[in-house]
Amino acid sequence: MKKTKKRKIHPLQVITHIGAWIPFIILAIDYSNNNLTVNPIQEATLRTGRTALTLLVLSLACTPINIIFSYKPVLKLSRPLGVYSFFYALLHFYIFIGVDYGFNWGFFAEAFLEKRFTLIGGAAFLILLALAITSTDGWKRRLKKNWKRLHRFVYLAIALVITHFIWSVKSDYRLALVYGAIALILLIIRVPVIRKRILRK
Ligand code: HEM
Repeated sequence: MKKTKKRKIHPLQVITHIGAWIPFIILAIDYSNNNLTVNPIQEATLRTGRTALTLLVLSLACTPINIIFSYKPVLKLSRPLGVYSFFYALLHFYIFIGVDYGFNWGFFAEAFLEKRFTLIGGAAFLILLALAITSTDGWKRRLKKNWKRLHRFVYLAIALVITHFIWSVKSDYRLALVYGAIALILLIIRVPVIRKRILRK
């Protein structure tokens, strides 16, 4: 009989799964209570976009947290956080195309191609889609070394999303810049020379 390997579930994983659903539940409650401002579509678009970006940044934070605090359980969170980020990006895209444009592909294509911030958001979305599909153990085994190479595209995705955010806001870029600064710090910590220095300390 084939023995199945039991995976230990860390409490942090449970907290991550529960926490990732909270923005969705709040959005659903606010929607059913007509509590989504005077422009519910825009509010839902902004909320899902911000949640997708936050989860993406948190997913990128796992390795640097392990480098600084030598706390390995956090490494198990990077994959689910990335997949949840894609889930919210999908919702964000669905609200844009389905709710805002009623799946009218003509109108959608016009609006999509007209604005540079939607084009760049689309590029980020495609990267997240590829990463979410190949995030399983099966794909990891199949792609071998290329899996790591492919998943490095997450850095490009985050840069595209931050640009998408900056270009989508009309005047106040402060929040977008805060996200950008955090993402940059997280990337710098991963640079081998910096990583080695931190580990030595
Ligand atoms: C085809 C893909 C995408 C489309 C069509 C799209 C569309 C939009 C639209 C229409 C807005 C709102 C602009 C406004 O009303 O001010 C927006 C904002 C935003 N989107 Fe996207 N988006 C896409 C992909 C993404 C992805 C992949 C992410 C994150 C992973 C993302 C994160 C954001 C963020 C953070 C904002 C700004 C929220 C804020 O101002 O607080 N978007 N996007």
